[in-house]
Amino acid sequence: MTTQRKILITSALPYANGPIHLGHLVEYIQTDIWARFQKMRGHECYYVCADDAHGTPIMLRARQDGISPEQLIADVSRDHQADFSDFFIDFDNYHSTHSDENRDLSQSIYRTLRDDGHISTRTISQAYDPEANMFLPDRFIKGTCPKCGVEDQYGDNCEACGATYDTTDLKDPYSVVSGATPIKKDTEHYFFKLADFETMLKEWTTSGHVQSEIANKLKEWFDSGLRDWDISRDAPYWGFEIPDTTDKFFYVWLDAPIGYMASFKNLCDKTDLNFDEFWKSEGTELYHFIGKDIAYFHTLFWPAVLQGAGYRTPTNVFCHGFLTVDGAKMSKSRGTFIKARTYLDNLKPEYLRYYYAAKLSSGVDDIDLNLEDFQQRVNTDLVGKFVNIASRVASFIKKNNNGQLSSTLPAPELHQKMIDAGEQIAQHFENRKYSQATREIMALADKANEYIADKEPWAKNKQEGKEQEVHDICTQGINMFRILCIYLKPVLPEVIKQAEAFLNCGELSWTDLNKPLLNHSINKFKPLMQRVEKEALDKIVESSKEDIKTAPQKALSNKHSNVKNEPIADEIEFDDFAKIDLRIARIVKAEHVEKADKLLQLTLDIGDETRNVFAGIKSAYKPEDLEGKLTVMVANLKPRKMRFGMSEGMVLAAGPGGKDLWILNPDEGAKPGMKVK
Ligand code: 2FM
Ligand code: ZN
Repeated sequence: MTTQRKILITSALPYANGPIHLGHLVEYIQTDIWARFQKMRGHECYYVCADDAHGTPIMLRARQDGISPEQLIADVSRDHQADFSDFFIDFDNYHSTHSDENRDLSQSIYRTLRDDGHISTRTISQAYDPEANMFLPDRFIKGTCPKCGVEDQYGDNCEACGATYDTTDLKDPYSVVSGATPIKKDTEHYFFKLADFETMLKEWTTSGHVQSEIANKLKEWFDSGLRDWDISRDAPYWGFEIPDTTDKFFYVWLDAPIGYMASFKNLCDKTDLNFDEFWKSEGTELYHFIGKDIAYFHTLFWPAVLQGAGYRTPTNVFCHGFLTVDGAKMSKSRGTFIKARTYLDNLKPEYLRYYYAAKLSSGVDDIDLNLEDFQQRVNTDLVGKFVNIASRVASFIKKNNNGQLSSTLPAPELHQKMIDAGEQIAQHFENRKYSQATREIMALADKANEYIADKEPWAKNKQEGKEQEVHDICTQGINMFRILCIYLKPVLPEVIKQAEAFLNCGELSWTDLNKPLLNHSINKFKPLMQRVEKEALDKIVESSKEDIKTAPQKALSNKHSNVKNEPIADEIEFDDFAKIDLRIARIVKAEHVEKADKLLQLTLDIGDETRNVFAGIKSAYKPEDLEGKLTVMVANLKPRKMRFGMSEGMVLAAGPGGKDLWILNPDEGAKPGMKVK
């Protein structure tokens, strides 16, 4: 028996402004398999994660949606957790970087670094939006490509011609936030002096804490010099304030990895786990699973920050590659930018878990989800090989022996061979060589199937005097199936749960390998998995194309919407205003109106009643995008008979018209029927 290890595992924290997609899932599935494997091997293991809830994009996205950032991150966290849970990603804790634990840890880490002289300040010049009164990250500046002249290109590269350039090279630059032309403005920033940790980092990165590919990349980074890291952002910013400053906030990437600690702290506070045992002592193990694009943050900044603040450094940082679909980058127009939910609406999660496992290695190579190969691989391996073993023998045991297994294994050497393969398979899981693990598991499944095919229990079942032999063959089959269940359990947790119910064997663990089921009663076999049909895959691709048609595509601003506002109307008396009864309304239904090119028909819930309203907002909204949203309506407007029916009120919208028209969209805290005052 190996000694019990204490292991803390994390996956990268997903940003709280978008849905989980199949690209994200490579990492969560990879990590979840590893965590489940460690637990099955009897180790004390915790897998924690959180939403990465700060930063400019989240602040602006909330503004655009007309909700508070708190509301946005709460909504997104709920969706993320539902997606993870439905993919059987089994976190021991899921938290948020916008949490008290994270604020306390971030501020105390910062104070330690500062007091030890690892923080410096200096004034830098940055792009600033003079209308929105905010500094602009590069991705919030657009303009005309200096190479090909195509308009509306992002900060540093042109989607039309592929050119890369500096944001300052853009012609006619404008702020995506307001449409204004950015200016340069001086501001004082706070920097983490990474170079203070050069010796420690050189030692850490060359002593087995990172993969060889990453170690090579690190050499380049060392050669080009470790530059100070800018960790501050100016207000307005959605994040944590930097202690002893006014209007300075931590850059999202400072508090994001500290979110790993915060999530674990949150778990410790709910249990009797000891935080310091995992973050201050080297007697435990700490692993971060991440994508190769964020290696710099995790293999330079993060260990340096930890060390500087008096914490332990990670045992290892495991990087993986990106996901391609059908050999190319995920594409919205091709329908291969597939959201977790779109997949789940059509297929079972474990097909994807298995396929990713069958593709994953310990390296940083990209992995390809080839949809045809996916279908074939799942059908051949899982349905054709694995499940087939049980389905070929279970019915004989049920019918002939009332579900009771026999007392001997007729091919004990084959059974033993399958057990003996376990250590090698475990090594592959341990080393994240899941593709090799699944290959070996399937080779064992082939052997089990060959055995059954060779023994032909179905033929013997028809022959007199072969009852015992059939019973033994089928018992052997069930026991071989059971071994494969143990090996596949980290990958297929839910299917194996059903298999455990069928085997009537309790929860299988790695130490159960050597405990065959003999003289044991099993339950009725129910098919554990169905074949993947092409139609389901087609539907996923089709729906993913639909997703982009219906998703709100509005940019926060483009320069053409930077229009002059209409002049303010003549003054009115307060009494005139008081006559207007404005109410919060929920759009319960939004539909196209036949033959009307400007109107949508809205069914509005205003608390005690519903109203039918025709609104001239078709140019700006798709009906699907409106349903469920709150808006404001004039509830006491005299009903007007229109060509298409009676309109019982009016919704309020702002903007010049066309695409640039926005219905008012109050915070979810408002309730239908509330009077707007
Ligand atoms: O790249 C990303 O999606 C980040 N949200 C990952 C953060 S990982 C950790 F540092 F928090
Ligand atoms: Zn261009």
